[in-house]
Amino acid sequence: MRRFAMVVALGCAGLAAPALAADDEMTALVDEAKGLMGSFGGTLKDELMAAVKAGGPVNAIGVCNEVAPEIAASVSEGSGWNVGRSSHRLRNPDNAPDAFTAAAIAEFLEREAAGEKPDDLAKAAIVEEDGKRVFHIVKAIPTGDLCVNCHGGDEVTAEVEAKLAQLYPDDEARGFSVGQMRGVFTLSKVLDD
Ligand code: HEC
Repeated sequence: MRRFAMVVALGCAGLAAPALAADDEMTALVDEAKGLMGSFGGTLKDELMAAVKAGGPVNAIGVCNEVAPEIAASVSEGSGWNVGRSSHRLRNPDNAPDAFTAAAIAEFLEREAAGEKPDDLAKAAIVEEDGKRVFHIVKAIPTGDLCVNCHGGDEVTAEVEAKLAQLYPDDEARGFSVGQMRGVFTLSKVLDD
């Protein structure tokens, strides 16, 4: 089951009507975010698979290195959303989590340790940041067969390892096994302008 924690800051909490409106707002935002996550994750996976097929994992490192941020930027652009990926074990320090994402990742790790599947781990909330209401949603990404080519242990070839070492000297995103949470999609949107 997918659980979305709802933390809604309401001026008049306890009144039925605003609470209902807030629920509607949450549902609409969660739906919109899921659509964006689908385009981001889907496009990325397609590009990654095509690149691995065309030239092996070494060739595909470029997709993650250059194309992933581009896809994230193009999905974000014009949508009013900030779309990205993060992790508890980062390859690229630029993907470091914001406070909401870090807290969600910590919670997901505990829940994973308690037996929940990464596919079921998601968290959404409206929080107040710098006087503005900001919607955040974070969803765990499981490690799949494709991923261990570049995030696994022994599966990673010497050639891939050399390229990764060159691009990411502080790489922490190795040693994952299939099924484990590799990281998260993280999306946010400022609601008050
Ligand atoms: C061809 C090698 C390759 C494959 C295959 C690959 N990744 Fe990555 N991954 C990378 C690289 C390189 C980065 C760093 C991207 C950047 O610089 O933003 C990365 C970054 C990430 C990040 C962002 C957080 C961080 O650590 O910087 C996540 C999450 C992630 N990968 C998950 C996955 C998942 C899930 C799969 C399988 C569906 C996968 N990766 C497959 C090479 C790969």
